[in-house]
Amino acid sequence: AVRSQVVESSRAWWRHAVVYQIYVRSFADGNGDGTGDIAGMRSRLPYLERLGIDAIWVNPWYRSPLLDGGYDVADYREIDERFGTTSEAEAFIAEARSHGIRVLVDLVPNHTSWDHLWFKAALAAPAGSDERARYHFLDGRGDHGELPPNDWQSVFGGPAWTRVPDGQWYLHLFDESQPDVNWEHPEVADEFEAVMRFWLDRGAAGFRIDVAHGLAKAPGYPDVGGAANDGRGQPEELPYYDRDEIHPIVRRWRRVLDEYDDDRMMVAEAWVAAARRPLYLRPDEYHQAFDFDLLTATWDADDFASIIAASISSAQAVGSDPTWVLSNHDVVRHPTRYGLPNDIEPGLWLLDGDRGLLDEERGTRRARAAAMVTFALPGSAYVYQGDELGLPEAWDLPLDVLQDPIWHDSEHTVKGRDGCRVPIPWEPTGESLGFGTDGSWLPQPPEFARLAAAAQENEPGSTLELYRTALELRRARLVDEVGFELVDRGPSVLAFRRGDSFTCVTHMGDDHAELPDGEVLLSSGPLHDDRLPPDTTVWLAS
Ligand code: NOJ
Repeated sequence: AVRSQVVESSRAWWRHAVVYQIYVRSFADGNGDGTGDIAGMRSRLPYLERLGIDAIWVNPWYRSPLLDGGYDVADYREIDERFGTTSEAEAFIAEARSHGIRVLVDLVPNHTSWDHLWFKAALAAPAGSDERARYHFLDGRGDHGELPPNDWQSVFGGPAWTRVPDGQWYLHLFDESQPDVNWEHPEVADEFEAVMRFWLDRGAAGFRIDVAHGLAKAPGYPDVGGAANDGRGQPEELPYYDRDEIHPIVRRWRRVLDEYDDDRMMVAEAWVAAARRPLYLRPDEYHQAFDFDLLTATWDADDFASIIAASISSAQAVGSDPTWVLSNHDVVRHPTRYGLPNDIEPGLWLLDGDRGLLDEERGTRRARAAAMVTFALPGSAYVYQGDELGLPEAWDLPLDVLQDPIWHDSEHTVKGRDGCRVPIPWEPTGESLGFGTDGSWLPQPPEFARLAAAAQENEPGSTLELYRTALELRRARLVDEVGFELVDRGPSVLAFRRGDSFTCVTHMGDDHAELPDGEVLLSSGPLHDDRLPPDTTVWLAS
C-alpha cells in the first residue's frame, strides 16, 4: 500500500527543529562538585553547535530539593545554587543563541515542591484558608479522617494523598514532595503567567510543559475504583488526566507567547490517547505535543509505519507538525530497549530481569537505524543527551546509589529512571570520564569509556559521526522538503520517500532485504553489495 501525505511547510523554526535535551545534573560539571551545571553546559556549546542541533530543552534548573531531579520546584525564578545563578542562566541563553541554538525552559505547572513558599504558607495556615486553596487540601474519610479522601494512586506508587499534622490531606499525583496546585485558584494562573514572562524576557525560546495533561481534576474528586495511575489515561478512567478544563489554561499561555517576537513556542508533555492529542495542538493552544508513540513502540516495521502515518496526519490536521522522540530522562535508553525481546517490559526488566535476554550489539544497531528514521521524517526530532554517543541504559546501577523517588515510592519494586540519567562520558579516561573533576553523582558503567565523545570524535562509523552527518544531510536535503510518502518494499521493511529524490529504507526483520537503486547517502551500518542487512537504515538519493 502506498499512502501519500503532504506536509505543511512554514518557516517557523520549531516545525523542523532538532531539539537536544539536557539533563543539567548529568551533562557536564563545570565546578567539580560531581553535579552538572550551567558552567559545564556553556563549555559544551561548541560541541552542540558542531552536532548540528537547533535548540536545547533544559530539564528543570530551578531551586529545588532535587527529590524528583528538579521536577520539585521551590522557586521558579531562581536557579538552584548547585547549577549556577539566574544571571548565568540568562547568559547561557544568550550565548547559546550566538551559536545558533535556542533554549526551551522546562515549566512545571502541575505541582510545586513542598519547599515552595506557597506550600509552606499552606501548612502554616488552617484548613479552609486561602493558602490551602492554592493546593488540593481535603479532609480524610473514616470516623476520624484517618483515611485518604479518595482512592487515587500516585504515579510513583502508593496513595496520592499525604496527611498533615492538623489532620487534612493534600493531593500529589507524583511524590509526596510534589503537592499538586489547584488551577482553579486565580493566583495560580496569574503566577504561572508571570513566571512565563520572566523566562521569555530572559530570552527563552519557549517552554516544555510538564504533565500538561494533569492540570485539571474532576470536581468532587471521585474514586477510581482502585485503578492504578501509570501517568497517562482518559478522563473517564482517571478523573485527573486530559480533562477539557485544561484547554482554557493553555489558551491563556498561548496568548502570552504570541505577544513576543521570534516564534516563541511551547511543547506539551501530554500522555494522552493519540486521538486526543490534536486537541492540544489547536491553533490557539500548543505548538507541539510530544509524540510518544514511537518511543513506546517495539521494533516492528508495520507498527512503525502506522504510527508514522497517523502521527503525521493528526498533527497536520490541526496545522502542527509531528515530533519524534526515541528517549528521554524518564525511559530506558533505546539502545537497551531495542536489545531486549519485544515482549519484555524494559522498565521492569531493569530490577531483576534475565540479563541473558539483552543483546547490546543488536540494540545499538537498531538505535542507530531508528535515529536515522526520525531524522528523515517531516517535523521535529528530539534527541536526549547521550543518544548521539549511543549510550545504553546503565542497567547495572547498584541499588544503594538510586536517587529516583520511584524506587522508594514503589516499595522497591521498580528500579526507576537513574539508569538513563548517568553523567555523560566526555573523555575515555579520568575520574568521571571528563564529566567533571571530582567524581559524579551516579557511577558510570565501565563501557561508557569506549563511548566517550572524545573517543568517537572523527572516528568513521562512530555514532557521534553518524549523528553529525545525518543532521548535516537533513539540513541540506530535507528541511525544506514538504512531501512524504510511505512506500511498500515488502514485509519487515519500513520505507518512505521525501519528495522526488530522497528515500529512507529500514530493514526491521531478520534476513537481508533488497537495497533499492540509488546513490547511498548514508547508512547506519555496513551494507553488503545490493543487500540491506537487518537492523539497518539507509538514505538514498533516488
Ligand atoms: C514528567 C517528567 O518528565 C518526570 O521526570 C517527572 O518525574 C514527572 N513529570 C513529574 O514532574
